[in-house]
Amino acid sequence: MTPFGIRSKLRDFFGRPVTGERPDETVPLTFVLPNGAEFPTRSELRYTLVMASQLLETPIATGCPDGHCGGCVVDILDSTGLAAPSAAESKLLDPKGEKNIRLACHARVSGPGAKVKVRQVWSMDAVKGD
Ligand code: FES
Repeated sequence: MTPFGIRSKLRDFFGRPVTGERPDETVPLTFVLPNGAEFPTRSELRYTLVMASQLLETPIATGCPDGHCGGCVVDILDSTGLAAPSAAESKLLDPKGEKNIRLACHARVSGPGAKVKVRQVWSMDAVKGD
């Protein structure tokens, strides 16, 4: 037992396998990039969409470490394979009043078949200030 249960909290944050899940199991999902190109890929179960997007040439852009900026919003084209929004995510999305959007830093992969349209990806031009 670590002080304050930090090990358990870290496992919960990064995705602890649920009983019956194989921790190394990956499932298919599809990202549609801002330019319209489709990028079918695979993700570990319980990964957030931001984590799953690390295989993209340019991952989903994020703007905060704690899920409050809204910069990672994606449009949901097929919600199959995505876990229901948490209470925290729902609270953040409610003021936007848009349907079929999720926060990629909160939305977790729960099975095969998700398809999301990415609104914004990291750009080296933005990083360099070009
Ligand atoms: S990165 Fe800020 S809300 Fe997702």
